[in-house]
Amino acid sequence: MDLIIRRAALTTHKPGRDVPVDIAIDAGRIVAVEANLAAVAAQEIDAAGGLVTPPFVDAHFHLDATLSYGLPRVNVSGTLLEGIALWGELKPELTQEALVERALQYCDWAVARGLLAIRSHVDVCDSRLLAVEALIEVKRRVAPYLDLQLVAFPQDGLLRSAGAFENLKRAIAMGVDVVGGIPHFERTMADGAESIRLLCEFAAEKGLPVDMHCDESDDPMSRHIETLCKEAHRLGLGGRVAGSHLTSMHSMDNYYVSKLLPLMRESGVAAIANPLINITLQGRADTYPKRRGMTRVPEMLAAGINVAFGHDCAMDPWYSLGSADMLEVAHMGLHVAQMTGVDAMHAAFDAVTVNAARILGLDGYGIAPGCRGDCVLLDARDPVEAIRLRASRLAVICGGRIVARTPPARAALALPGRPLEVDFKLRR
Ligand code: FE2
Repeated sequence: MDLIIRRAALTTHKPGRDVPVDIAIDAGRIVAVEANLAAVAAQEIDAAGGLVTPPFVDAHFHLDATLSYGLPRVNVSGTLLEGIALWGELKPELTQEALVERALQYCDWAVARGLLAIRSHVDVCDSRLLAVEALIEVKRRVAPYLDLQLVAFPQDGLLRSAGAFENLKRAIAMGVDVVGGIPHFERTMADGAESIRLLCEFAAEKGLPVDMHCDESDDPMSRHIETLCKEAHRLGLGGRVAGSHLTSMHSMDNYYVSKLLPLMRESGVAAIANPLINITLQGRADTYPKRRGMTRVPEMLAAGINVAFGHDCAMDPWYSLGSADMLEVAHMGLHVAQMTGVDAMHAAFDAVTVNAARILGLDGYGIAPGCRGDCVLLDARDPVEAIRLRASRLAVICGGRIVARTPPARAALALPGRPLEVDFKLRR
């Protein structure tokens, strides 16, 4: 046995009702999950009742833009429009070496945060496909410890940007995994619908998944999700299609949404909300009341639609913050969607773990015999405490090997008659 984590709480663990379990990993796979395991291992970790979760999964990110903060200048207004202008200024200056270096640095942060799978969009509108080449190289280099899935993303529009479809096809031929799109950015609603048809037919022909930026708008009439569902249904792509953002749904007419949600369920289209970005970029043109802009997460979950949360951006032209922390993403998503019920808080944790893993189609994901030997020990006893504290990742394990450690967050106190240390957990 390579590694045993003793006395671990799982996400399903009920304190006081369930005994913590031991998790044994051998030859890269979990081989046993049971209480008081008799076996011994070359290396052992005492979780002491701490939560052990499968790794965090980011269903929506942009590795080609990440960590470019300040290049060539910062986004002074913090708006989407200045972000797009900035990206336009940065693109001609991109070099493959710098793209690879920044993406690798972000992957280091991700591993340190227990984030071991990322679906990243990559802009294919530059005919040089520099970013595609760079991220394929990054994917190869991080493969031993991080699942990187790439989406061919026509940022400037499939039909609106000359050569974009050819570039997208070239990117797929080079090894990009998923077909992307941005229907709401095409010139007309009709062009948007046409781009969805073309992209879904291409994906069906190639047997690939689809993940489109879809309806990232405050316009309640931006209804491309409807067309995406129809095409997924028509072409039998169900389960392989995701709509990212879907922010227009926040502003849609309720009656229309009551028709839309069953349509999404029927077609098997999953949804990816990006709370950090949606709450900062949407509703920007409003005065007050100011819309939150994030899509209808609890309603979609209640309708049986798979919903994940993505990080989307970190220190790039659109967003100056972020540190690869999917617990920060879950924390924001929970607040924006008012998911404060007990089950809803657990659902927010699922949105950055198991739900996202389903969208990426990850094999062997979970804490059970036969699953991959990948997991994260958190300085928290349950998922809600993990979100509340954005808990330290005490140990990140990949293939049965510890790949990152973070010390627990503790503050030293110097107060008469009070404890010497606080860890922000309720004393039970
Ligand atoms: Fe995005």
